[in-house]
Amino acid sequence: MSIKTQRLQADRNGLEQAATLLQGGALVAFPTETVYGLGADARQGEAVASIYAAKGRPSFNPLIVHLASIDAARNYVDWTPQAEKLAQAFWPGPLTLVLPLRDGHGLSSLVTAGLPTVALRVPAHPAAQALLSQFGGPVAAPSANPSGRISPTTADHVLSGLSGRIAAVVDDGPCSVGLESTIIGFDETRAVLLRAGGLATEDIENVLGQTLSTPDQAHITAPGQLSSHYAPRGVVRLNATEPLEDEHMLGFGPIAGTLTLSASGDLCEAAANLFDHLHQLDALGGKIAVAPVPMEGLGRAINDRLQRAAAPRS
Ligand code: TXA
Ligand code: MG
Repeated sequence: MSIKTQRLQADRNGLEQAATLLQGGALVAFPTETVYGLGADARQGEAVASIYAAKGRPSFNPLIVHLASIDAARNYVDWTPQAEKLAQAFWPGPLTLVLPLRDGHGLSSLVTAGLPTVALRVPAHPAAQALLSQFGGPVAAPSANPSGRISPTTADHVLSGLSGRIAAVVDDGPCSVGLESTIIGFDETRAVLLRAGGLATEDIENVLGQTLSTPDQAHITAPGQLSSHYAPRGVVRLNATEPLEDEHMLGFGPIAGTLTLSASGDLCEAAANLFDHLHQLDALGGKIAVAPVPMEGLGRAINDRLQRAAAPRS
């Protein structure tokens, strides 16, 4: 299905239109100082699912949530003194902070891929700032390129990859940094460099007064697996048509379960429900049987995630 992608100016009228599209659950690409992002309302699961569909991403990676201000960011996470230092020094700017989610955050679980943490960024680009203020909520945005292609630094790059698949792009010329944001997480004691990017690590170390650890040095539960996704505790069995005695069923389409990803077989709805439903079934205790999900469109990413959940763990 192809839609007409609008090229919007970064003026009052264009930004109002962009904010209205986001409110309606549509996808809008917008400039940040690093690269163009592909934005959706981070609270609307199906809007977030459509990001993956538009990019053709074969798996669900957690996304960065963009906010207009430090105050807005504090609402979503357990804020810390180190986060405060870095935010005061570098926000707005090319820095992303990964912090534990707070209860009642209201973000779609697809944004975090079911993880208990979320990546937050306050971008400095005037058009991004204006759009986020106008929209007044959290915007999930990966780089606005099809999966496997290079990150876009102009609206033309965005259109060459995603025209026909997104509602609009806000065109405000080339990005100044041209490199994705630097991503910082935290372990018990130190700040951890999760991705090198547009903000120099030395600058971050100067502000913190300590060296950054790398994921390999950091104390993490699954070594080398920092981006490791949420995995249910219970055993997961795929392509099931009905549950065994000790299983809870996760349904899809005609196969109904204790919870059903999408009764109508809508893959976008199924993606939006995936992590919530896995969490809920896992909380019931016992094993999980999952109905077959077709290997097409978003079904590929859903199956990728389900296969990881079903893979034997040590
Ligand atoms: O400059 C940027 O960061 C751009 C602009 C649009 O803001 N965005 C961007 O997003 O590069 P993306 O989706 O291409 O990269 C997001 C990165 C991924 O490597 C992902 O694994 C990591 O952020 N990430 C997101 N949430 C995370 C979390 N809770 N824990 C660890 N890593 C996380
Ligand atoms: Mg990217």
